[in-house]
Amino acid sequence: MNTTIEKLLNDQIKFEASASMQYLAMASWADQKGYNGVAEFFYLQSEEERAHMIKLVKFVNERSGIVIVPQLDEPRATFNSLNELFEIFLESEMNVTQQINHVIYECLQHKDYNVHNFMQWYVTEQLEEEAVARGLLDKLNIIGDDKSGHYLFDRDINTIAAANANPE
Ligand code: FEO
Repeated sequence: MNTTIEKLLNDQIKFEASASMQYLAMASWADQKGYNGVAEFFYLQSEEERAHMIKLVKFVNERSGIVIVPQLDEPRATFNSLNELFEIFLESEMNVTQQINHVIYECLQHKDYNVHNFMQWYVTEQLEEEAVARGLLDKLNIIGDDKSGHYLFDRDINTIAAANANPE
């Protein structure tokens, strides 16, 4: 495997792992605050990011590359509001998308069409995840500081997320 591409895939393993831990910290914060729906949403997001990481680990190994299981910084654990929680969620997904675009750009530069093809799955996944994050944040911006709105958001988060993931 080309060493530049191998390094980029290892970087991507770290980004996915960091996102997984960040979302776990967000789930735990929401759990403490009594937002059970939001907590379940982020517990699941954390698992999904871990799955994204494992998929990369397996792929690099299949291609006889060397995987480096990364050391991670401690994720942020406290948030000022639900709005801030979802702002960070969207920011994190946008960063991951940028990184994936960078990997794809480098695959084309190095004519590594195999990795390029593999990364297409991530492109599709990111489109969906960004749409979900943006949709949830839009709803929270409409709700503002309204406590009963937050109650309903927490109750209905999966329905709102699904509607943004699969727009009609
Ligand atoms: Fe796997 Fe949403 O980044």
